[in-house]
Amino acid sequence: MKRKIKRIYFDYAATTPIDPRVVRAMLPYFSEKFGNTMSLHSFGQEAKQALEESREVVASLIKAKSTEIIFTGSATESNNLTLKGIAFANQKKGRHIIISEIEHPCILETAKWLKTQGFKITKLPVNRYGLINLNDLKKAIKKDTILVSIIHASNEIGTIQEISKIGKICQEKGVYFHTDAAQSFGKIPIDVNKMRVDLLTANSHKMYGPKGAALLFIREGTKIEPILHGGGHEFGLRSSTVNIPAIVGFAEAARICKKEMKREGKRLTNLRKKLIKGVLENIEESHLNGHPKKRLSNNANFWFSFVEGESLVIQLDLFGVSASTGSACSSVKLEPSHVLLAIGLKPYEAHGSLRLTLGRWTRGKDINYVLKILPKIIKRLRKISPFKK
Ligand SMILES: Cc1ncc(COP(=O)(O)O)c(C=O)c1O
Repeated sequence: MKRKIKRIYFDYAATTPIDPRVVRAMLPYFSEKFGNTMSLHSFGQEAKQALEESREVVASLIKAKSTEIIFTGSATESNNLTLKGIAFANQKKGRHIIISEIEHPCILETAKWLKTQGFKITKLPVNRYGLINLNDLKKAIKKDTILVSIIHASNEIGTIQEISKIGKICQEKGVYFHTDAAQSFGKIPIDVNKMRVDLLTANSHKMYGPKGAALLFIREGTKIEPILHGGGHEFGLRSSTVNIPAIVGFAEAARICKKEMKREGKRLTNLRKKLIKGVLENIEESHLNGHPKKRLSNNANFWFSFVEGESLVIQLDLFGVSASTGSACSSVKLEPSHVLLAIGLKPYEAHGSLRLTLGRWTRGKDINYVLKILPKIIKRLRKISPFKK
C-alpha cells in the first residue's frame, strides 16, 4: 500500500489557495447573479452594484478613491497597461522610463519591448539587500523622464523598498511613480497618498482570492492610454466584459486581509524569524538573501553553498514540502535568478537558492518539520555535489 504523505505548502508567493470564505462570497455570481454590468436590466444592475461595491472595498485597502481603481485580469496586465499606457500618453513630454533591476519579468519584458518602440529605459541597480539607492534615482531622473516604476516588495527575496521616499523624489521632480504591489497588497499597510504613488498594481491570487482578478490604482488626473479598446468598460481604460465572480472574490479577500492584517503579520513574522534562525544556526554555509528586517513577514530566501536549488526543491517535494528556487515565473528557466544576481550573488551561488514563503495555513509544526528535514537533505546533496570543497 502506498503511504500518503501530507503536503505542506511553502510557496505562498507563487500563489495562494482561495480562502473558503472567499469561495462562499463568489458562488452566487456564477449562475444566479451572472449579469453583464453593461446590461440595463436587473441582472446587469445587480452585477454593476457588486462591481462598484468591490471597487470601494479594494480602494479602501490602499486609501484610494474608488473612482481611481480599475479592475484588470492580472498583475501582468496592470503592469503592461502602466508602462505602455503612460509611455504612449506622455511621449510628447519625454520617452525615458526608470525601473529597477529586480522588477518582475512582466515589467522587465514590457520595458524591453518599449525600447524597440523608441523609448529609453534606465534600470537602477540595488544593494546587497535589494534596495535601490535614492541618490541613484535622483540622478537618473532627467527632463525627458515620464515614469518611475519600482517594485514595492520583491517576490523573490521579500525586501520592501522605501516607497514613501521614492514617491517624494518623483513628486518633487514631477514624474509619475508606479509601484508593483502584487506581493505586499493585503500584507502590509499601504496608503497611496502618504506614499505619493500615482499608479499601483495588485492582484488577487497572492492574497487568498481567485486568479483572473487584479487592479490598477490610477491617481485622478493621470494621463494614460488604454491598451485594450472596445466597449469602454472600466472608465474606458480596460474594455472587456467584467469578470464579476473573480472581482467579488478579490474584494472579499481584501476585506479579510484588511481585518486580519495586523494579527496575521505578527504571527507570520514570528514563524519566519524562527525559520530563518533555525536554518542559519543549524546548516553550515547557509546564507539569507534579502534584508534581515525590511522584508515581508512571509518570505525567507536562502542560498546554500555546494547545493543545487532544483535538486533541493525536488528532494523537499519528496518529503512533502512544496517550495521554490526563485520566482514561479523563473522556475522553468535554468538561468540564475536576475534578482539574486542583482544583489551580488555569483551565478553558482544563485543556483543554490531556496525560497520558502509562508501563509494563512502555515503553522509552527510546519516550520519544525522543515527545520528537521532540511539539514539532512542538504547534507545528502552536498555529499554528491561536484562543487563541494
Ligand atoms: C511582484 C509581482 N508582479 C507581478 C506578478 C504577476 O502577477 P499575475 O500572475 O497576476 O500576472 C507577480 C506574480 O508572480 C509578482 O509577484
